[in-house]
Amino acid sequence: MNVVNFGSLNIDHVYAVDHFCRAGETIHTKSYTQNAGGKGLNQSIAVSRSGQKVHHAGLLGPEGARLAELLSGSGVDLRYLKHTDVPQGHAVIQVQPDGQNCIFLYGGSNQAVTPQEIDGVLMQLNAGDYLLLQNEIANLTYLLRAAARRGLRVVLNASPISDELLNADLSGVDWLVVNEIECAAMAGCGDAQAGYETLKQRYPSLGILLTLGSEGSVSWKDGTEVRQCAYPVKAVDTTGAGDTFMGYFVGCLAQGMERQTAMQYASMASAISVTRPGAAASIPLMDEVRAAVEAL
Ligand code: RIB
Repeated sequence: MNVVNFGSLNIDHVYAVDHFCRAGETIHTKSYTQNAGGKGLNQSIAVSRSGQKVHHAGLLGPEGARLAELLSGSGVDLRYLKHTDVPQGHAVIQVQPDGQNCIFLYGGSNQAVTPQEIDGVLMQLNAGDYLLLQNEIANLTYLLRAAARRGLRVVLNASPISDELLNADLSGVDWLVVNEIECAAMAGCGDAQAGYETLKQRYPSLGILLTLGSEGSVSWKDGTEVRQCAYPVKAVDTTGAGDTFMGYFVGCLAQGMERQTAMQYASMASAISVTRPGAAASIPLMDEVRAAVEAL
């Protein structure tokens, strides 16, 4: 069984700010760093650091060499990663003193993914293989349909929300991973609880993993609900926390762990990640996560 993540790779331009810049405002920043990021890249690294072998598929732009180095240095298999002349995707990220972030994206290379590239990767996968997806690459709807036809176990992180995603057919998706805002939006409801119930009714075979911030997370699959608490920490930078959660959850499931265990490790890994700056750089290794869980 393979685990393949078809996703974005970004250069993150990170600015420490006193508060998020408002309309019409110009502000000084306290520091600037360039980090590896992208929901795709972050999630591949999280899967790998959970102890599960993972392949990253996607498009690398001309400035992306160190993103590929970080992935391979983290144990991620890059045989499905292709190159393009389109500039590398990037993100501009403001981080407040409370660790909250605000992000805008330039898709670049991530938005150059074509149906041909998708077919080229998917034809090498078999029914039952895991396929992780987020919404930062082009042709996501095509990818969802093609993956369903192939019988892949699709885990979709509905982030960021877009019109294309809101209109996507989720009947071929195995797990949908959402935060509260994404859950409400995907269901077309006013709040996450109503969205969770609506998605359960609308897609009876869909697994739903809903993260609830300080309230932890809840999942639903095959008629069973599992709840997991959050672990309180002092946040330095929340960037990539959701990616760490998603990557650990899938990595642990793929290693055959029970859903409750996968959610607990995902929750702890995500808690540890927010105590450190950066996205990919903040994702802990399984040894550290396991030790923290055992110390509870
Ligand atoms: O989820 C965090 C990520 O979102 C950042 O690394 C940034 O690149 C954006 O994709």
